[in-house]
This record gives sequence, C-alpha cells and structure tokens, in this order.
Amino acid sequence: MGAIREVIERLELSGISKVAMGALGDPEVIPLWFGESDIVTPAFIRDAAKAAIDRGETFYSYSRGTVALRDGLKVYLDRLYGVDVHPDRISVAGSTMLSVVVACECLLTEGDEIVLIGPYWPNVRVAAQLMGASHVDVRLRDGGERWELDLHDVEAAITPRTKAVYVNTPSNPTGWIMREDEGKALLDLCRRHGLGLIADEVYHRNVFTGRDPAPSFLEMAAEDEPVFVLNGFSKAWAMTGWRLGWMVTPKHLAEPMAVLAECNNTGATVFAQSGGLTALQQGEDFVASFVARTRANRDIVMELIGSHPKVHLSEPEGAFYAFPKIDGLTDSLAFCRRALHEAKVGIAAGYTFGAENEGHIRICFAIEGERLRTALLRLRGLLDKL
Ligand SMILES: Cc1ncc(COP(=O)(O)O)c(C=O)c1O
Repeated sequence: MGAIREVIERLELSGISKVAMGALGDPEVIPLWFGESDIVTPAFIRDAAKAAIDRGETFYSYSRGTVALRDGLKVYLDRLYGVDVHPDRISVAGSTMLSVVVACECLLTEGDEIVLIGPYWPNVRVAAQLMGASHVDVRLRDGGERWELDLHDVEAAITPRTKAVYVNTPSNPTGWIMREDEGKALLDLCRRHGLGLIADEVYHRNVFTGRDPAPSFLEMAAEDEPVFVLNGFSKAWAMTGWRLGWMVTPKHLAEPMAVLAECNNTGATVFAQSGGLTALQQGEDFVASFVARTRANRDIVMELIGSHPKVHLSEPEGAFYAFPKIDGLTDSLAFCRRALHEAKVGIAAGYTFGAENEGHIRICFAIEGERLRTALLRLRGLLDKL
C-alpha cells in the first residue's frame, strides 16, 4: 500500500477469468467462457494485413487512425445506417475495450457515478472504477420472452452525482437488443438530466431478429451531443486478437480524441488497420455466414439448456451468449468451477455481470455446433445432479 492507488491494489480478476485462468489451453475442456468463436479470422482479411506489412506499413500513423480506415468507416457507417457521419467524429481505437476507457476518461472523474445498464460485461465497471467513479447497476427486467429496459428504473438510479449511462446493445451477456423506441427514450432521459451516454455496439451485426444492423444511437443522436458510440472488429469479423475498434464521438472532440489516443497507445496497430478496412469492404458474406452459425447454435442452446426444468432462459435476440437462471443456484463461481472439473466445460459465473446475477451462468455459443452440443449435454448432466 502507500504509493499505489487503493483502487489498483483492490483489482480482482473477473468471474470469467477466475474460472478460465489455470485451465486455458487444456484440450479436454470445451471453452464457452470467452466472447469468441473457434474461427480463425478469414483469409482475405489476414492477407490484407500481411500485404500491409510487406508494403512497409510499420510506422507511426495518425493517432485517430489511418486516413484509409477512417474514410472506410465513414462509408461503412453511412451505408449501414443511412446516416452522414461527420469525419471528425470517427476515431479508430486499439480495441473496443480501449474505446470504453476513452469514453470513461471523457465523462467521469473522482466521485462521479455512472449508471450501468445490466447485466453487463464486467470490464466496463472496472473502467469506471479506474476513473474514481462508482457505479449504480440498473438491471434489465427479464420479461420471460425477452429482457426489457424499464426507464423508470434508470430514472430512479440517477443522483446529483450521476454523469453518464452505459448501455450495451446487442447485449453481452443477455442477448437483449434495444428496440428503437427504448433507445430514443433512454437518449431523451440522458438529455433531460444532462448525462453522457456510452453506447457499446460491438455486437451490432450479431443479430437474429432480421433487423441488421441492430438499432444504433448513430441513428438517433445529434452530432455534438455527449454520446459515445463504441464499436469494433472483434465480434462481426472474428478478429478478437487484432485489438482493433472504433468510436463515433461528439464532433467538437476530434482534437482531444487525437491527444487521448496519443497518450493511450499512440493509435491502433497500423497494419491491423488494413485488415480492418478489408473486413468493412469485403466482409459481408462472412458476417452473414457467422450469424447463420450462431443463430443455429442459439437454437441448440434453447433445445438443450432452455428446456431443462431447472432453467429459465429468455431466447437471445443477438450477440452470442445465453444467460440462463438456474433454480436454487446461489454460488455461480462454485458452479462454474464444478462445470470445469466435473464436466470439462468452461463457462462464466453470473455474479460478475453485475448485481442480482448470482443465480445465472453465461454460455458463449459461438463455437462449432457439434462441439457446442457435446458441451451442453455435459452441462445438462451436471444440472440434472443439482
Ligand atoms: C460488451 C463488450 N464490449 C466490448 C468488448 C471488447 O471488445 P474488443 O475485443 O474489441 O476489445 C467486449 C468483448 O467481449 C464486449 O463483450
């Protein structure tokens, strides 16, 4: 203690990593714990990055991203959402996670509060804590058929110290997709209270509802509002290891964004950005085939886990996670450790996704279907024994 900030001394691994560390790479374990599939990034994307290295793209570039990728992002976003995003609003980041940190740097300081709409991915809570802020969890309501956002719950969580709201749609871990009317109402609420909004849309293409992309705050917010729309390449194009993301931020922040990027990592890896550009330009077939795979996998999860008498599971509308509630479960971490040792299946503990989730587990269903089926049958056997 002493020189090191207390918040750092107290950091603990998440309930995803706590289960996984120690068993990573064990060939007997079927991994459903992290948010990724078993698909290697498509060859045409890898080839683009290799070609960039061979062209000698190994130098510093603009900290907000190469001109080519920022231009490509504008074309992609304009086409996808039918908008006209001002180029000053677009910054490339060295991962979506880093863009979460940047948004927190912009909105939060010591003593502030952020409302986290949950269940939510735990790293977001840590990013807020690192700024010295505290968090208030507002849980979506599990309506049985789908999870729902109740604006009264958000309103009730706001205090004079609240500075921002975080929402992730499509959601990790529930698979909830915010409807357009829910988004507009949330944005209105933020306007009324003068709050910043962090919209994490990294699963924007991972949708099973037929509305691709999922509704976005890019379609709703004006260009200079304190709204940070965060996104990345990891989940749509199987690029988790590339550490590449982007954000659309208030227009007047272009210069501060460049400075923040300089301080954080002096911009994303330059040749990775060539891969990202190719993903945007040529990746539509891959996106479609990956969604078809995960949609079929979602049905397998509903069949094998959703039907279990001890399980309550609202059907995921997007992303690639199921977040079942298990009757009588009071220690999700212990259950996940049991699943690892007895069933050789890696899953994530519910408690880590915010308040009131101790009775849940998270299953990532992005891996190949037959292997997923094997893992879920093992898990089902464990549920039978509970
Ligand atoms: C909700 C959410 N936001 C952000 C991220 C981070 O994405 P990236 O790999 O691009 O940093 C994840 C990764 O699992 C996520 O689930």
